[in-house]
Amino acid sequence: MKFFIDTANLSEIREAYDLGVLDGVTTNPSLMAKEGIAGAEKVLAHYKAICNIVDANVSAEVIATDFEGIIKEGRELAKIDDKIVVKVPMIKDGIKAIKKFSSEGIRTNCTLVFSPGQALLTAKAGASFVSPFIGRLDDISQDGLELIAQIRLIYDNYGYQTEILAASIRHTIHLIKCAEIGADVATCPLKVITDLLKHPLTDSGLEKFLADHKKANS
Ligand code: G3P
Repeated sequence: MKFFIDTANLSEIREAYDLGVLDGVTTNPSLMAKEGIAGAEKVLAHYKAICNIVDANVSAEVIATDFEGIIKEGRELAKIDDKIVVKVPMIKDGIKAIKKFSSEGIRTNCTLVFSPGQALLTAKAGASFVSPFIGRLDDISQDGLELIAQIRLIYDNYGYQTEILAASIRHTIHLIKCAEIGADVATCPLKVITDLLKHPLTDSGLEKFLADHKKANS
């Protein structure tokens, strides 16, 4: 399973990368705004800074919502670095743009996916990644994990190569369940990745090992 970090914060990206388990980064306009990144030049420079930290797979989202605009913006983003994956919203012109990008060899991530039908269209258009949002479905009392399972079944039925990138992950149970279902990628806040380290029996066990070692060696 690939781990992406869902942030535009450079120090969090560095921290996750230093752990040695990071396979990529996802951003979105809200995450960029949270870091105070505004204006075309600053946005492009920030994506380049992210690309300079990680080895691959930096999702950079287009703002345009019309076909021509998405294509223009996506091509500019793709030029920043080979690591860029152009993130396109699940709308009619987005699907058309994904098909076009895929014929040009530009990798894409279809975002804001909330149904199996949307995921099917995403795969048929040739997207590299599909981003179903688990947490936001849970927020409206729908089962986000069930959506991941449905997409896994559909993609396996037909051998679609689009990678299932589980997004809007809020806690480690989401992440573990996604791994059980067989999501290809999980994108999470840094806290969810570092929370995987934690178990109280690990802490108490290590404390006892060190105490016993100290006693035997004093
Ligand atoms: O990057 C998209 C997605 O992961 C957003 O998550 O927590 O804002 O629903 P959230």
